[in-house]
Amino acid sequence: MDRAALRLILLGVFLISASSDPVKKEQNVDVYSFYINSTVTSRYATTVITSRVANTLNESQEIQFEVKIPKNAFISKFRMTIEGKTYDGVVKEKEEAQQQYSQAVSRGQSAGLIKSVGRTLEDFKTSVAVAALSKVTFELTYEELLKRRLGKYELLINAQPMQPVADFKIDVHIQEKPGILFLEVKGDLSTGDLANAITTTRADKDAWVTFYPTRSQQTKCKSCGEKGMNGDLLITYDVERKNPKGDVVVSKGYFVHYFAPSDVPRIPKNVVFIIDRSGSMQGRKIEQTRLALLKILSDLDENDHFGLITFDREVSFWEHELLKATETNLKNAKSFVKEISDRGATNINAAVLAGVEMINRHPREGTASILILLTDGDPTSGETNIQKIMSNVKEAIGTKFPLYCLGFGNDVNFDFLTKMSLENNGVARRIYEDSDADLQLQGFYDEVAVPLLTDIQLKYPGGTNLTKTSFGLYFNGSEIVVSGQITDNSVESFTTEVIAVSKGRNVTYQDTKMTKDPSDVPPENEDFLQRLWAYLTVKQLLERQVLLEGQEKEDEKKEALKLSLKYQFVTPLTSMVVIKPQEGEVEVADKPKEGEAPHSPPVMHSHHTTQGHSSTLGYAHGGTRNRGGGGGHGGSRGHAPQKPGYGMFLPSSEMGFAGIQYMQTDVDQNPPKEIPTYPAPKVDSAYFLLPVDGQSKPLCFDVPCLYKLRLLEDSASEFSMYGEYMWRFSKIAFRYKTDHRLTITKNVITYHHGQNQVEFLWSQEPTQHISEDVSLILRNNEIDVTMGNIRVVIFLHKENGLLFLWPAVQQQPKDGSLTGILAKTDATYEEIQGSQTPTLKINDQEVNASWVDVTDYRRSSKPVIKCWLVSFYAVMQRDISDFIIAKL
Ligand SMILES: *[C@@H]1O[C@H](CO)[C@@H](O)[C@H](O)[C@H]1NC(C)=O
Ligand SMILES: *[C@@H]1O[C@H](CO)[C@@H](O)[C@H](O)[C@H]1NC(C)=O
Ligand SMILES: *[C@@H]1O[C@H](CO)[C@@H](O)[C@H](O)[C@H]1NC(C)=O
Ligand SMILES: *[C@@H]1O[C@H](CO)[C@@H](O)[C@H](O)[C@H]1NC(C)=O
Repeated sequence: MDRAALRLILLGVFLISASSDPVKKEQNVDVYSFYINSTVTSRYATTVITSRVANTLNESQEIQFEVKIPKNAFISKFRMTIEGKTYDGVVKEKEEAQQQYSQAVSRGQSAGLIKSVGRTLEDFKTSVAVAALSKVTFELTYEELLKRRLGKYELLINAQPMQPVADFKIDVHIQEKPGILFLEVKGDLSTGDLANAITTTRADKDAWVTFYPTRSQQTKCKSCGEKGMNGDLLITYDVERKNPKGDVVVSKGYFVHYFAPSDVPRIPKNVVFIIDRSGSMQGRKIEQTRLALLKILSDLDENDHFGLITFDREVSFWEHELLKATETNLKNAKSFVKEISDRGATNINAAVLAGVEMINRHPREGTASILILLTDGDPTSGETNIQKIMSNVKEAIGTKFPLYCLGFGNDVNFDFLTKMSLENNGVARRIYEDSDADLQLQGFYDEVAVPLLTDIQLKYPGGTNLTKTSFGLYFNGSEIVVSGQITDNSVESFTTEVIAVSKGRNVTYQDTKMTKDPSDVPPENEDFLQRLWAYLTVKQLLERQVLLEGQEKEDEKKEALKLSLKYQFVTPLTSMVVIKPQEGEVEVADKPKEGEAPHSPPVMHSHHTTQGHSSTLGYAHGGTRNRGGGGGHGGSRGHAPQKPGYGMFLPSSEMGFAGIQYMQTDVDQNPPKEIPTYPAPKVDSAYFLLPVDGQSKPLCFDVPCLYKLRLLEDSASEFSMYGEYMWRFSKIAFRYKTDHRLTITKNVITYHHGQNQVEFLWSQEPTQHISEDVSLILRNNEIDVTMGNIRVVIFLHKENGLLFLWPAVQQQPKDGSLTGILAKTDATYEEIQGSQTPTLKINDQEVNASWVDVTDYRRSSKPVIKCWLVSFYAVMQRDISDFIIAKL
């Protein structure tokens, strides 16, 4: 418990320092050399960053080292060299590392060093005390297997040395046995003045890229400044693929098989897009989704069949069947997409099951079926039990086709999506809330746009300890990679065999003549294949963890841990412990977990949080200051430098966790100032009941999100009633003519008329205030408000200890001049008989309805009645955004 608290405290330190306080670099630290050396052998990239720094001060000080590495990579080595002595990080089991850390904490050593994770990169950051006029060398190594996407590999190198460096070098050497097809250098460091600093040399099987910017170039580029460069080099390339059976590399008893045939016809696909249009998709997210879908529809092949499903509480179909991607169908689908707008809660269960059902009804012979779910929130409607949803979906799909889940933004339960997609042979991808979200969505679609093979089985007679060998689908532009050991290192008897289904027929790829080419692997990294195998094995074991239970889960976890320790990978199961020169100083580096992008910290309505959370963050803030004055860089001048330096890299999932906790704002308080996107309601949302003429069963609807709402407005009589709504009303404000203002909160009722002000408390004796055309009558827990010819009663209700307001319109002008959510009085509907799910016809449209119990808050007795629940849109025929106002 204590540790969790501590982590949260450090988390706060990060949030605050990262957003507001870029590390201050003092002039008395000289980064005199900075090298990044990356070697890629058969797609396995090993990168070494070496930074040499001098303390030019005549006293000792703390010197920082901070770099960003690709998220997919495992750190495998960290070393500091100070005054001829080296200090190596050692990878240990997480708990053990944690113990060492805790002991250090108990000795009172603290300075927050935090590791975080962003969209493509994660931070590694450390510091060490360096004596007067001495030097330190930091060396960090990380490894990753480059993944082929959309027909290319990408090696991303981030460079941010924090100051112009006299001797700055990036060296990249790529060696690919089948030959390099093309190679491009991109990224913001490859533009402008810096482009001149790049050289590219190509041979048949090798490519070298160097980037040696001069000191002055390092200050002149677009993303550069006084602090030198800050940006990325992105090297993209692909290899030749002359052999459709794939490319096998063998070294020291290990092999890797890259299989990516492209000479196969595309398989027509059946794709169903299941699109979340719940209230939280409001604004840019839904716009970007529409944009991406329109583009995706344009890219469909004419032999593809497709379906579109949108969902909130209800599930809507463009068409109930999969239809061929003909010009007419696409045109109609696009009109449907343009109309998608956000509205209610999130019924993931019903929507996915509807998608599965749609594919199942469609003939699938000779095609590849794909289900794509896009959502930005937790299931909040229909079946909301995540375990149940997963088992429903798994049973319905029955391994027949994959489910891909795209989690949009920070409020998704990404673990749930990951698990659900892995259980159904798909993957989950995060869509970051950013200006390019539509491109991210399209990018994902492009990766799965062209299926070439299905049901792929890879077999390796003579091979053992294989990584995954069975794949449901292979898409053009991607690659299947299998690695393993060769039994008894007998290369002669080793063969590869791939069996798959291609456009309705079985295909086999067999490769037997496996000559060991001694030039496969240069001697200096002949261990790379073993490491590649270990990397892939650990990644796959970790991925499978979410699917397993009991002993099997434990066994695989143990295996992943064993390999992580053996190969010194910093994985989610291990941490790297660095013992620093000063006695007793320990640093622990963890692999951060994807949680929340650090650039979008949770919205902080600090005064709306519950006590516990806000105090946590308050403390965190103090922590920052303490740190600055202690071992930190900024405050080091003139202080004794031998402060215990010591830190821990925080998995930022805890940040996400804190973020979400933070969002569980107290419903009882004022709602936030802006319209944020919210996670699931923490209380059941209330329903709005509609008076229905001449029908016995009333209609009800809910308001999908937390807004300031236009409830009633009448421009003719200059009347308005607005409410602050967070699943209940917390405040209601009236304006009438120019000089009447009435504000009702859960405590107090304030009425202004010109210069005069009257104030009532809910708790006081009944009273009234009556003037020419305004009357206010306060009774027990209700106030009866009449302004001109409009009369509304506001009730103060209490439920589960929570106070809230609810308006009931008693009288309004019949001329129809009123607008606003509560102005709607004339909804009529027909029940459609004989449909499978309850369906009503409202405004000539068929809408799904459910027969629910609601509490009628329009009466003081709060009776529970039955009503037909339909969506906001179905009743109002307008988007909720038409009823949102900025200010009460
Ligand atoms: C990069 O690594 C290669 C191979 O280990 C080595 O030969 C070369 O000198 C290194 N380059 C730099 C700039 O460190
Ligand atoms: C450090 O420099 C200051 C002034 O720059 C000088 O007064 C002091 O004697 C120096 N200390 C050492 C240990 O050289
Ligand atoms: C697969 O992609 C390659 C280029 O990456 C292209 O030449 C080929 O035509 C594609 N195959 C199909 C079936 O679309
Ligand atoms: C492909 O092979 C499987 C199993 O060997 C067999 O059941 C199936 O009929 C074959 N399909 C075709 C199209 O030949």
